Amino acid sequence: MNKRLNPIAVFDSGAGGISVLKELVRLMPNENYIYYGDSLNAPYGTKPTEEVRRLTIHNTDGLIKAGAKEVVIACNTATSAAIVSLREMYPSVPMIGLEPAIKPAALECKGGRVLVMATELTLRERKFLLLLEKYKDIAEIISLPCPELVEFAEGGITEGKELENYLNTILAPYIHNVDGIVLGCTHFPLLKDAIQRAAKGIKLYDGGIGAAREALHQLKETDLVSNATEGSITFKSSLKGKEDLYRKLFYNT
Ligand code: DGL
Repeated sequence: MNKRLNPIAVFDSGAGGISVLKELVRLMPNENYIYYGDSLNAPYGTKPTEEVRRLTIHNTDGLIKAGAKEVVIACNTATSAAIVSLREMYPSVPMIGLEPAIKPAALECKGGRVLVMATELTLRERKFLLLLEKYKDIAEIISLPCPELVEFAEGGITEGKELENYLNTILAPYIHNVDGIVLGCTHFPLLKDAIQRAAKGIKLYDGGIGAAREALHQLKETDLVSNATEGSITFKSSLKGKEDLYRKLFYNT
């Protein structure tokens, strides 16, 4: 059987991974994708790490059993909680994780200040603490947990007064004294236009493009790049009806 035609699975706690799926499809339009959001259990970012690890492993296991040739954990939170275990459990499946794009932000804002917006879980876990340690002498890194933003995106609210007011309030202490903002949660690029308006001219960084490039790199390494002329996307969710939101966010944001 031609395993190259098997799907790339893209997993998130809910709708956020759509921002990563977009980058993947832009880079590899002729691949088949299964997008799976665990919206029934979202948000992950406010849960204990062990629970997120269990949910992520359970969902990834299902995607691999369904034939995924590669898995993209399109969620910073799930990656922080489970990527090490997943790579140990499935050494033969290319497994891509997401991490806050601190590297490009710190390098471009050398000597300046970088704000990282992410979930509470991401900001307290080892993966993030290691990134902090690595780049602390290049730029000052400031953490800002924003669980409410996950709720906006998960509810399909990507514009409007309520979101605008919320963003203006949380970003007010920073817009005059930071040089870059990292969107360290995959739900946030879905709100990018609104965030950019509140952040005025400050440059935003996210890890979606980097993850998509790494996904392609790993497919090449394992000789799994699709040789089809067209691709497909299947949207699935643990919460009935949410597929429509994923589709809408994919095609309209
Ligand atoms: N999309 C997830 C991330 O990238 C977090 C959303 C959640 O809290 O479930 O961190």
